[in-house]
Amino acid sequence: MRWARVRGPVPGPRSIQWFQQEQAYIAPGIPSIALYAQLAIARGEGAIVEDVDGNRFIDFFTGVGVALLGHAHPKWVRAVQEQAARIAVGSFTTQARAELVRLLSEIAPGDLQRVQFYSGGAEAVEAALRLAKSYTKKREFLGFWGGFHGKTGGVLGLVGDPFKHELGPLMPGTYLTPYADCYHCALGQTFPDCQFACVEFLRQKVLVETTNDLAAIVVEPIQGTAGNIVPPPGYLQRLQTCARELGALLICDESITGFGRTGKMFACEHDAIVPDVVVIGKGLGGGLPITGLLIREEVAHARPFANPSGSSSSFGGNPLSVAAALATVRVILEEDLVAHAARMGQFMLDRLAVFPERYPFVGRVQGRGLMIGIELVADRRTRAPLDSRWTRQIFDECLRRGLIAMVYRPNMRLYPPLTVTEAIAEEGIAILQEAFDAVADRILAEAPSH
Ligand SMILES: Cc1ncc(COP(=O)(O)O)c(C=O)c1O
Repeated sequence: MRWARVRGPVPGPRSIQWFQQEQAYIAPGIPSIALYAQLAIARGEGAIVEDVDGNRFIDFFTGVGVALLGHAHPKWVRAVQEQAARIAVGSFTTQARAELVRLLSEIAPGDLQRVQFYSGGAEAVEAALRLAKSYTKKREFLGFWGGFHGKTGGVLGLVGDPFKHELGPLMPGTYLTPYADCYHCALGQTFPDCQFACVEFLRQKVLVETTNDLAAIVVEPIQGTAGNIVPPPGYLQRLQTCARELGALLICDESITGFGRTGKMFACEHDAIVPDVVVIGKGLGGGLPITGLLIREEVAHARPFANPSGSSSSFGGNPLSVAAALATVRVILEEDLVAHAARMGQFMLDRLAVFPERYPFVGRVQGRGLMIGIELVADRRTRAPLDSRWTRQIFDECLRRGLIAMVYRPNMRLYPPLTVTEAIAEEGIAILQEAFDAVADRILAEAPSH
């Protein structure tokens, strides 16, 4: 091992001290990964993070893909430092903001020329819903099983995930339909013989269940939280056709998939569509909180969204986050990180292709670019999820070998930074393999059905 370096137990004594001090005061509910790891982080560089005990970890988590450039990229650090020393607050135009909106409209698919900024992902999705209502004058929304768009009241009804349990009632007029997750087809069909039966089901659902007042279909081009689920080619095109037939907008939530993560600048480009609205966020600021919407020119002027102060927010487009985002997008372009992500993603997928052969509890490995999912199953035939006891053990085995990987559910998710090198990717996968080897005998001993 060259990059990861773990000395002694993890978490080490200093991590435990800081973690326990924080636990005395911080509200319960911090991310599962942070609870499992109990690490206190001192610094990061590229794809490596270092804890306060001097242990170095390969970071395939990157704050759910936020650290697109890796940690502390020198150009990003310089841009943030320089902006912080000038001005960090305010809604007025800055040179950086004027340049960022132009740059974003240049790299956006098709005619998505208008940009508005927010500071949280759910906030941006809610703004997209306001915009869709403003433009269509309709009131209902359709999301997907397995979809995730945040935890605020306005989006919970579009979340097809247990995060919303016990938090009802949900926003009226929100509906969910099965996603094209072919490994778990809700309709029991097989692609391509199904001829997109799930899309036909969507049509019927709207006719039968809604009041036929659909303002938008809200979809992740690849479902992140559900496990980096890649739908079959042509799916987004069909959703767009449906949306048009229904007089609704197509909103693509590219919070995770945007800015090169999937090997294209935006994941909707894999299906050659231009949505009406694209939600951007997470990695956009390379670590500073900035999210936003890319909007078709015609749609952006709809009122009341377009009224003065109608689309804005306190922190949206603040000078500091904008400077971070401008540096992030410039580095992605200058260093050709979109193509690099495509290459490195293929490299990792090729290495991971042996996992389903080697481990009977690996149901499938899938992904696009550096957005990779490994689905862990209790039984390959039923495809039932592997017990969370085992996912926890895999997480721990990875951590003590120096890899941070997102495995708090049986849908393991890998998000290396776009700057990851072949050597680090190789080492990370070697650690993953060691961790799987370490738990394989235990799992198989207890679950002979494998
Ligand atoms: C696709 C998607 N949209 C929206 C969100 C919500 O973002 P935030 O946590 O910043 O509200 C997330 C968060 O994971 C996400 O994955």
